[in-house]
Amino acid sequence: MKVDQFLVERFLNTYEHEVELNLAETCVDPFELGEFLTMVEREDFFEEFKKMQLTYGFIDGSPDLRQGIADLYDYMKPENILATGGAIGANFLVFYSLVEPGDTVVSIFPAYQQLYSVAKSFGSQVKLLRLHESKQWLPDVEDLSELVDHGTRLIVVNNPHNPTGSLIDTELLKKICAIAEEAGAYLLCDETYRGLYIRSDDYVPSAVDLSDRAIVTGSFSKAFSLTGLRLGWIVASEQIIRECKVHRDYTTISNGMIDDALATLALKNLDHIYKRNLGIIRANHLILSRWVEEEPLIDWVPPRAGSIAFLRYNFNMPSEELCLRLIQDEGTLLVPGSCFEMEGYLRIGYGCKTETLKEGLGRFRDFLNFYR
Ligand SMILES: Cc1ncc(COP(=O)(O)O)c(C=O)c1O
Repeated sequence: MKVDQFLVERFLNTYEHEVELNLAETCVDPFELGEFLTMVEREDFFEEFKKMQLTYGFIDGSPDLRQGIADLYDYMKPENILATGGAIGANFLVFYSLVEPGDTVVSIFPAYQQLYSVAKSFGSQVKLLRLHESKQWLPDVEDLSELVDHGTRLIVVNNPHNPTGSLIDTELLKKICAIAEEAGAYLLCDETYRGLYIRSDDYVPSAVDLSDRAIVTGSFSKAFSLTGLRLGWIVASEQIIRECKVHRDYTTISNGMIDDALATLALKNLDHIYKRNLGIIRANHLILSRWVEEEPLIDWVPPRAGSIAFLRYNFNMPSEELCLRLIQDEGTLLVPGSCFEMEGYLRIGYGCKTETLKEGLGRFRDFLNFYR
């Protein structure tokens, strides 16, 4: 089965381990294991495991894990949850379970490439719902209505959005759900960055709590900083979860028992995690905002949620060349817009340590001074 190369993954894999300052990271500063266990006051955590037999564990995810995930939603029960290998595993499983050759899938663009390339590789016709900077990178309901018809199997959105940090609010999300319902389509809403609101009064319910046609994917990687666990989930109606399980049996069996236990521990300590992580992204968002305000060569739509922003630069150089020069001259990594098929843009991650962000932005400024 042919599939397009996942551009952002190839780019990051080539450069992220070598650079001094990584401003391409999308996760909020991943925990050191010791830091996490100290924060939740469970330094003795691995003592328990010495007596535990390392079996496959619970196939769908342990009951405590699925209850903890269900509690992140208003109306969900453990039966609505299926643990997966990251949100990337969750998204893949949704496409694998629901999309047939010849189906129509409508997906936002630009986007995390998995959200349109996998459906295409499964033989579906993918129609792109283009997001525009002039519309705050938000889906336009009229454009969506024009693309969707009764043959549409799946509508795919991402909220908060990678790479722009735009946030679909409750009203708009309800309209998108209504379009899916009316067409008899499913709505896949990738909510990998959910919870990372820049303003404390911003809150958007999960799509899965708004419509029984919605299928939501989530992750321990971004808002919870436990990227190395490689755990995510699908939350959906019991009927959809059953369908996904049928397919998952052929790819996963189960996730790791230790990962499951650490993730469960995280879910019991969300207050600590959110306090740490909202502190990081809100402080860093302010630093980045001031930097952009003072930088005439860069423009943006300020992200409302998540840990990444999409910067537009006002000079003539291909984005990949710019990023490669920035690595070479300043040891600083950004993601070229070309990885999202969007020339003239750069993606920056601001979930990193504040010192890394400050130093990286300083070096990026030096680099830009050269072209002024
Ligand atoms: C929108 C989106 N979905 C899914 C993923 C995959 O995340 P995970 O680490 O949970 O597999 C990412 C990672 O960057 C992402 O940005």
